[in-house]
Amino acid sequence: MSECVIGILASGRGSNMKALLAACASGEIPARVAVVLSDKEQAGALATARAQGVDAVWLNPKDHGTREAYDRALVAELRARGVTLVCLAGYMKLVSKAFIEPFQNRILNIHPSLLPSFPGLNAQQQALDYGVKLAGCTVHLVELAMDAGPIVMQTAVPVEDNDTGDTLSARVLEQEHRLYVAAVKAFAEGRVTVDGRRVSVRP
Ligand code: GRF
Repeated sequence: MSECVIGILASGRGSNMKALLAACASGEIPARVAVVLSDKEQAGALATARAQGVDAVWLNPKDHGTREAYDRALVAELRARGVTLVCLAGYMKLVSKAFIEPFQNRILNIHPSLLPSFPGLNAQQQALDYGVKLAGCTVHLVELAMDAGPIVMQTAVPVEDNDTGDTLSARVLEQEHRLYVAAVKAFAEGRVTVDGRRVSVRP
């Protein structure tokens, strides 16, 4: 099987990125992270990646006129490093066709709800406000529609009566780190088959 080379896109603190970096460094995921890209110069993810000796690049959206132009610049950075699998980890920009087409079925995202419930921002608070008893997180393939691509893996997290947005988010985040590592490991090991919306993962 060909080597799995990962590119991570992150806009924020980067805790999911950190979990992926650690799992690649320990050998749990048989892949290497070639680059971390961000649209935010001050993203904690960039600083953390650099501190770990990982190539980390800020691409300023203002330097590229349209979303497509920006996405082409991202793709160029990923291709230049031979990236075969892209992981969005708290990447807050919507992606265009220009980004998705070159990496068909090779772009993953993690979202802090049991999709298709509660797409978009503040998913954990949305779940709490709705009154669900099971919250959770989802790793899915990325398509044009936000938080809507085929589901790869999910983990449920029970909601407790005294939960706040913060306490629930913290428990979901713990599970996000485990789930994202498991899903990326499955891709790196070539155990994933995509058939339309149905994704199967061999043990
Ligand atoms: C996570 O909750 C992830 O599911 C969502 O954005 C958040 C990013 O957190 N897409 P972090 O930057 O990985 O800590």
